[in-house]
This record gives sequence, structure tokens and C-alpha cells, in this order.
Amino acid sequence: MTRASLEKQPHEVASMFDDVAAKYDITNDVLSLGQARLWRKEVAKAVHARPAEKILDLAAGTATSSLPFAATGAYVVPCDFSIGMLREGKKRHSWLPFTAGDATKLPFRDETFDAVTISFGLRNVQATEQALRELYRVTKPGGRVVICEFSQPTWAPFRTVYTEYLMRALPPVARAVSSNPDAYVYLAESIRAWPDQAGLAGLLRKAGWSDVAWRNLTGGVVALHRGVRR
Ligand SMILES: C[S@@+](CC[C@H](N)C(=O)[O-])C[C@H]1O[C@@H](n2cnc3c(N)ncnc32)[C@H](O)[C@@H]1O
Repeated sequence: MTRASLEKQPHEVASMFDDVAAKYDITNDVLSLGQARLWRKEVAKAVHARPAEKILDLAAGTATSSLPFAATGAYVVPCDFSIGMLREGKKRHSWLPFTAGDATKLPFRDETFDAVTISFGLRNVQATEQALRELYRVTKPGGRVVICEFSQPTWAPFRTVYTEYLMRALPPVARAVSSNPDAYVYLAESIRAWPDQAGLAGLLRKAGWSDVAWRNLTGGVVALHRGVRR
């Protein structure tokens, strides 16, 4: 079983997700205490996909995050570099055009998509800024980006309780439900090491995105960042 370290070596990250693929979605629902479904609804609203639009769902894994966009009549491309996650997704949603690709070197032409989005994926990419530039490159002028990622709860007392949950409660729960509990130790560590809301907004601007803003969900446990390619 592979567990990535905070160096986020791409082969370790991909192999770690290969290991958890079969039970990934159910583990998510349990560990997020049911919040994952609510977060996905908010991502769908923020992306606001319209019929016939081309949407890239990067780091899509099993494509649970892609389904709300497909439901609007948009053409959604789920892309990921874990073959295990892609296989599991293809078993469940065979009609979706699953594509193998690395966030830092996307297999798409310039200015292809109306909207690009990434849910719970960017934190796992070793070269964050390069991935943000790649997302920008494949977006049409006027197109939009939506990033859904764990962030920092804004209310200090809640932040303390949440950090305790991450470091103490999450690993034993993961041991009970996941096929690779160590992957969830990495999850807790990588969330703690991730930039806060303003920090990620700064990285988006640096990569070229305009009109960058964010909205907190569940008190800032998750943040939705958005931006536009001008
Ligand atoms: C936590 S899962 C999220 C899956 C899905 N977006 C969701 O919301 O359920 C993170 C995904 O990011 C993918 N990933 C991590 N680094 C990547 C990279 N450099 N390129 C493409 N995919 C990557 C992993 O393989 C994994 O499937």
C-alpha cells in the first residue's frame, strides 16, 4: 500500500489513489460526515455549466465530481492520472470520456474549455502553480475556473476542534472504512500544509486568472475559489 508524503511525488500520489479507488466514494461520505454531497452541489452552482459547454473536471478520480456537470447537458471530460481511479469510474459511468492526464502537462489544446474545475485535487499536485497555468492555457478567453479544496476554518474555536478531528479522529475512522488508512494520514497532513483562502487566491492571480474570489463552505473547512480568463 502506498502513502504519499508531503513531497507529493507524482508516482506515489497516483499509486496511493490506485489503492483507495474501489472504496474512495464511500470513504469520502463517511469521513466528511455527509458534507461531501453538499459541497458538490455548491461546486455545480459555481461552475453553472450550460448545455453543450465543454467542461474539464481535472483530478476527477472516479468522476463523482463530474456527474453534476453532465446532468446539465454540458460535455464534461473527467481527467486524472490514477489509472485505478479512472478504471473504477469507467465501470460506473461508461458513457463519460475519461482521459488519462497529468495536471502539470494537460493533454488538451490551448483554449479548449468553457470552464475548468478541480475538486479536492489541486492540493495533491506537486507543482500547484504549473497546474494553475495549465488550467489557464486550456480555458477559452472569457472562460472560468472553479477550485474546490479544503481550507482554513475562519472561526478560531471551530478551527481548533476541526484540527483535532483531522489529526486524532480521522485516522482511526479511516482504519475502519478505507482500504488504505495511511492515505488518510496523508490527507490530514496535506490539509494542514495547504495555503489558506487568501494564499490560494494569490496563486490563482499569479497564474494569470482575473476576478479571483472565494466563498467558504462549512465555516471554511472547504473553500470554493473562482476566476476568469480575460
Ligand atoms: C481526492 S481525489 C478527488 C477526486 C474527485 N475530484 C472528487 O471530488 O471526488 C484526488 C484526485 O486527484 C488526482 N491527482 C492528483 N494529482 C494529480 C495530477 N498531477 N494530475 C492528475 N490527477 C491528479 C488523484 O489521482 C485523485 O484521483
